[in-house]
Amino acid sequence: MSIKLRLTLSNIAMITVPIILFSITSFLLLIVFLGDIREMTNFLPESHNYHKTKQEDTILFLALKEKSVVNPDELMSQEYLQSLNGDLATIDTGLMIRKNDKLYYSTPELKKLNTKELPVFGTETSFRSLEKVGEQTFAIKQHDFFLKDGSKVSLFLMRDASPWNKFVRTFFPILLGLCLLILIATNGLLAYFVSKSIIKPINQLKTAAHFIKNGNLDYSITAIRNDEIGQLTQSFEEMRIQLKESYKIQKQYEDNRKELIAHISHDLKTPITSIKGYIEGIRDGVADTPEKRARYVQTIYTKAMDMDHLIDELFLFSKLDLGKVPFEFEKVDIKDYLTDYFEELSFDLRKQNVDVNFQFSTLGNYVVFADREKFKRVLANIINNSLKYMEKDKKELKITLHSTDKNVEILIADNGPGIPDDSTPFIFNQFYRAEQSRNKLTGGSGLGLSIAKMIIEEHNGEIKLESTLMIGTCITIILPHNTFSEEATS
Ligand SMILES: Nc1ncnc2c1ncn2[C@@H]1O[C@H](COP(=O)(O)OP(=O)(O)OP(=O)(O)O)[C@@H](O)[C@H]1O
Ligand SMILES: [Mg+2]
Repeated sequence: MSIKLRLTLSNIAMITVPIILFSITSFLLLIVFLGDIREMTNFLPESHNYHKTKQEDTILFLALKEKSVVNPDELMSQEYLQSLNGDLATIDTGLMIRKNDKLYYSTPELKKLNTKELPVFGTETSFRSLEKVGEQTFAIKQHDFFLKDGSKVSLFLMRDASPWNKFVRTFFPILLGLCLLILIATNGLLAYFVSKSIIKPINQLKTAAHFIKNGNLDYSITAIRNDEIGQLTQSFEEMRIQLKESYKIQKQYEDNRKELIAHISHDLKTPITSIKGYIEGIRDGVADTPEKRARYVQTIYTKAMDMDHLIDELFLFSKLDLGKVPFEFEKVDIKDYLTDYFEELSFDLRKQNVDVNFQFSTLGNYVVFADREKFKRVLANIINNSLKYMEKDKKELKITLHSTDKNVEILIADNGPGIPDDSTPFIFNQFYRAEQSRNKLTGGSGLGLSIAKMIIEEHNGEIKLESTLMIGTCITIILPHNTFSEEATS
């Protein structure tokens, strides 16, 4: 249920409950003012006036009234009055007759009443009015008439209204109090439940926000309801996940940066230390023969070349990382491109005793959009690895081309030592070098494949590695045919 609906219902209840309670109170007040609930039938239409007592009461009153006109002497006779006792008892009413301010006749239960307290002569009423007589309250019908001798006679039909009256008078304050209590309780409970359903999730959000403020991005919250606050909670939770994700990425960048600095310092320090050592050897006369000196100088040259290569790679790596290397994409037929590339390389490869096997189907479409120079860098890094880590006499390099509707696949496989399974997931990471190859003989910074990956990703392509120890390593490059539109490259 939405908060809007809940508040609307609660407001309706806050209005209807007091109305119901007010109606009950009004009903009770009516009784207090009319004196007798039975008198309420006077306000009802005749058809509803079913009260037998009321009818008989009226009949009797009218009969007495008539008698007072037709035969007042008989009315005033004790026998006649006594004869009325039975009828009066059935309608729960007493009769009092006052003659010239003195009690003339009274039914037994009214005997102790003081006639002076009864309404004065001339205030005749045929409806019951509520009168307090002594301690008691009566609903009274009064008829006044004169006798022939001029005596003033008042006839009272009286019903004791005290029980009702007393009941209402005693309980009215309690009922009123109860009404107020119910009113307060209803409003209180409604306010409590409505506010609880709103405040609880708000508090939950407050706690979550507090945790996030203090850097704890693991504090997760779930929406209890699907109302407006529930939706806010859901969005808050999504924001937390997003924040956590970007924090993780930021941390990863931070770690990478630190690692990069550590690796650069290490990889530059190592050749500089040995260069320093060899120069000291020459300066201090350790290299005392021309041959020794020549060997020292050659080593210094090799180390300086290593450093040059490392700085080159670092420079390219950081430029690629920052997205500052411009790419010049053009339509390239990879089949022709690779044929030329290996032809250029064939002399060097033959010198290193490498057998190159290049396979492709002439029918396929091998056109992709590529940056020729950058792609050459990728191939060089892969092939250099194959040659660098291969310790076999008969070195083999097998290049296979496949073309599908969407991509061109280039597989470059060697018969080198392979890479252990636990290293393959990290092989494209910057500065990562498989442990066994971390030796002085091969050299290298661990940047070659990460540079290759960055270049291929810039081509919207993919690079993968599969390797089996002792069998060899195969690198697969997938380049899409239609990454860039013709217009984009023109
Ligand atoms: N063909 C391969 N055969 C065996 N191991 C390989 C081969 N290619 C890559 N590796 C392993 O993967 C690691 C990462 O290669 P990568 O080219 O990124 O770095 P590197 O060759 O060590 O240094 P760099 O290429 O920057 O001079 C290498 O150190 C090596 O252990
Ligand atoms: Mg390499």
